[in-house]
Amino acid sequence: MKLEFNKNILITAGPTIEDIDPVRYITNRSSGKMGIALTKQALKIGANVTLIHGPLQVKIPKHEHLVSIYTRSAQEMLDAVLNNINSKDIAIFTAAVCDFRPESIASQKLKKDDSDNCPFTNIKWVKNPDILATVGSLKSRPFLVGFAAESENIIEHSKKKLQTKNCDLICANDISNKNKGFEVDKNQVVLITIDKEICLPLLSKDATAKRILNFIRKTFL
Ligand code: PMT
Repeated sequence: MKLEFNKNILITAGPTIEDIDPVRYITNRSSGKMGIALTKQALKIGANVTLIHGPLQVKIPKHEHLVSIYTRSAQEMLDAVLNNINSKDIAIFTAAVCDFRPESIASQKLKKDDSDNCPFTNIKWVKNPDILATVGSLKSRPFLVGFAAESENIIEHSKKKLQTKNCDLICANDISNKNKGFEVDKNQVVLITIDKEICLPLLSKDATAKRILNFIRKTFL
């Protein structure tokens, strides 16, 4: 394929991790496969990619036009995104960011006592920053693509995210079925903009990434 899409793209991928104590943490099932598929496809068509990612279950490709930055928590991912967003033409947020974190990280392992009480029930949870919405609210921002992981009323909930997070495109994925979405190699997304709804079939994540980037490219023609 001719290398012609000379754009700077920021991609977030994988889960975030929110530490509870020196031993325990909370996270989610995101493998990073969707984000890496987009990264590979973007590199293939000639883009420069900055990949900001949590712990991944797949390998990050080596490429002269790829910079990858590891982050652990949602706050770290937000800081890395804000430090790198300025020069970007496009930002694609596939990361599954933990919505909440413990108010403080216990310095010692939380111990059970002789009772049946679970020590985790005393943890106070606070809301994490919304990275996509934060970038959506910037005065000058790149073309902004979010993903929506939904298990019901997929289109309605995703359209709400398109508006509240101020995105140009939301890729809505149905995560109610184990053969698509989190961890597996396939996905089925609906591309939603303010005036379009394009339903893609169940495809490999590589093929889904190709269709998403083709759609984005058309908006830059
Ligand atoms: O990683 P895989 O195993 O390949 O799985 C892919 C995927 C299912 C994780 C991916 O396709 C996907 O749906 N990613 C978004 C998951 C998610 O967190 O969706 P959400 O509906 O909760 O969030 C909507 C959007 O806001 C997302 O773009 C998310 O990155 C962003 N967000 C959410 C919360 C938050 N605090 N900050 C954010 O930026």
